[in-house]
Amino acid sequence: MPVIAVIGAQWGDEGKGKVIDLLAQKAGVVVRFSGGDNAGHTVVNPYGEFRLHLVPSGIFSPHAVCIIGNGVVINPAVLIGEIDQLNQCSVDTTGMLISDRAHLVMPYHILLDGLEEEARGGKAIGTTRKGIGPAFADKAARLGIRAGDLLDKEALLERLRSVLDNKNTILTKIYGVSPLSLEEIYRQYCQYGERLAPHIRETTIILQEAVDRDELVLLEGAQGTLLDPDFGTYPYTTSSSPLAGGGCLGTGLSPTRINHVLGIFKAYCTRVGEGPLPTELKDETGDLIRERAHEYGTTTGRPRRCGWFDAVAAGFSTRINGFTQAAVTRLDIFDILPRLKICVGYKLNGESIDYFPSSIATLAKCQPIYEELPGWQAPIDHIREYEDLPLEARQYIARLEELISCPVNLISVGMRREQTIFKTPIL
Ligand code: IMP
Repeated sequence: MPVIAVIGAQWGDEGKGKVIDLLAQKAGVVVRFSGGDNAGHTVVNPYGEFRLHLVPSGIFSPHAVCIIGNGVVINPAVLIGEIDQLNQCSVDTTGMLISDRAHLVMPYHILLDGLEEEARGGKAIGTTRKGIGPAFADKAARLGIRAGDLLDKEALLERLRSVLDNKNTILTKIYGVSPLSLEEIYRQYCQYGERLAPHIRETTIILQEAVDRDELVLLEGAQGTLLDPDFGTYPYTTSSSPLAGGGCLGTGLSPTRINHVLGIFKAYCTRVGEGPLPTELKDETGDLIRERAHEYGTTTGRPRRCGWFDAVAAGFSTRINGFTQAAVTRLDIFDILPRLKICVGYKLNGESIDYFPSSIATLAKCQPIYEELPGWQAPIDHIREYEDLPLEARQYIARLEELISCPVNLISVGMRREQTIFKTPIL
């Protein structure tokens, strides 16, 4: 069985949770490899409807070992809340593992995320304010506190003391807010440590052993490619890499061991937060998509900006991830539209371009060049075989395949597991 990296191919919220939940039924291991509780992976299955922020979406599969990888930043309070909620719904989380190398989101990260956003004023990124950026910044600045630190209370106190000195100086001198209490944070994190200790350990060996046993291993990405700090619409990005490459760095698995990279695309584009979205629809079609698809942020509840499928951005995403397979989700949202558009190029200063610019100032000047396709104007959420889809829906998928130069294996026509069409097998 292969190792498959499951990657958000656009600006996040593409439906990775559903696809992971579906594939995990055959998996030996599922590892979340990036982001933090800024993510919200929606899963609807026989256990109920869940919005997972940190627990891998494979948790519902009794045979899969779920790992929160070293590339994730963990808010322990959120994780414990999520574990409790899952347990209340009879989902077993006892076997879930947390990499001892994963960094922790601390109270000052959350505070600073909000203060930094306010200081940016009109240039705010529109972060989720979950402390994710500041936590990854501390990881790079060598100021982070890791899950493994929770297992040694004395060392934790020493580490926290020196880091908090630094943070309290910033909080009081730069932002003019009250300092945080060492004792309070220490006591709170010791309690988290006691609760999470059975889950925290070295996880690269377990992962390697699963690969050696030829089990199906899923690397679960968070956010989307165009929010990547290197390749996304910088600085309107997140702070860890949602790319397939991030799947190696965030788990400790070698790049040579990844067999397939599955790109998850929504049939249209959405974005939550600020930053360019070339195909954004600020009209009634955009509103219609938002309301039909209930496009509101899973983590923050903010309305998502909606737009037509952007094949320029999608082609870029395919190139830098090396997608070998693709899934197209939410195709059913188009059921009532008479005509569909796909952006096949950009017009920049009167010239046509077919690449995704690195500069947001340039991207903001790009006007989408659209190709129009007929809609199918019939419900498809009950369809399970590709051949049973209306001709226009198949034409839409075929055109996407051409434009992104990647086969579409899976099409999702609803939130439930069974509302899935396997055009060609993934496994
Ligand atoms: P942060 O990751 O909270 O720092 O937010 C940075 C940007 O990434 C903001 O535009 C967020 O809206 C966006 N973002 C973060 N996580 C997600 C996600 O899971 N889905 C979609 N957008 C996200």
